[in-house]
Amino acid sequence: MKIFIDSADLEEIKKYLKMGLCQGVTTNPTICLKCGVKGGIEGVKKRTIEIADLIYPYPVSAEVTSDKVEEIIKQAKEYSRWTDNVAIKVTITDREGNSLLPAIYQLTKEGISINVTAMTTFNQAILAARALKSGRDEAKRKPRYSFISIFGGRISEEQGVERAFKVIKSVREWLDLHRFEGIEIIVGSVRSPENVEYWARTGAHILTIPPAVLLKCFLGARTKETVLQFLTDAQRAIKELESKT
Ligand code: E4P
Repeated sequence: MKIFIDSADLEEIKKYLKMGLCQGVTTNPTICLKCGVKGGIEGVKKRTIEIADLIYPYPVSAEVTSDKVEEIIKQAKEYSRWTDNVAIKVTITDREGNSLLPAIYQLTKEGISINVTAMTTFNQAILAARALKSGRDEAKRKPRYSFISIFGGRISEEQGVERAFKVIKSVREWLDLHRFEGIEIIVGSVRSPENVEYWARTGAHILTIPPAVLLKCFLGARTKETVLQFLTDAQRAIKELESKT
C-alpha cells in the first residue's frame, strides 16, 4: 500500500518524503486554498509544478475547476502539459449529478492520467473503473496513472466507518476479480488515525492522508513515556559504568 500526502504544503510534503512516507500527493481546490495558494489558475499551476518536481517520479493530482465536459477536456489537456507526473482530478458527476464519464473516458483514450474523484459508492467506483479501463484499452499511449478516489470519511459521516470499509474492500475485490490492472484505488477524506488503521486493511492501493492526521499516527499509548524511560536509564547506566572505571 502506498501513502500519498493530501496537501499542497511543500514543507509538509518534504517532511514525509524524507521519511519514505510519500509516494504521491493529492490536492484539490479546497486544499490549495487552505495551503495559501494564490494567483488563480497560474498559482495552482506553479504549486503543482513545484510539487511534481519535488516528488518526481511520484504523481501529484490537480483538480479541474469546471463540471462541464467540454471545459474539463480543455483544462485537463492543459494541466497534462504542465508535467508528466500529474494526474487530473475529475469529479464523478457534475453538480446536478450528471455523469462526467464522457470526459474521463475521452481523456484516458488520449493518454491523459485521470483521478476520478469524490466517489462514495461501490457503483460509482466500478463504473469509473470501467470507463478508465475502456479508455486505457483503446489508448495508443496508455496513461501513466489511472486512479479512482473513494472518500472514506464522507461515507463514514453519512453511513458509518463500517460501510466505508465494505465499499472500499468490495471495489478492490471487484478490480482483482476482473483483472483491472493499472487502475488504483485511492482512499481519501481520511480524518483520523483510526481511519488509517481501518482502511489500510481494505486492500486499497493508496491511502491519501492529511499531514495533521499522519502526525498523530506516530503516537501510541505510552510511547513518549517509554522513550523517556529508556533515555533516563541510558544516562544512569552510562554514569554507573563511568564510576566503575
Ligand atoms: C483526496 O484526494 C481529497 O483531496 C481529499 O481526501 C478530500 O477529502 P475531504 O474533502 O472529504 O476532506
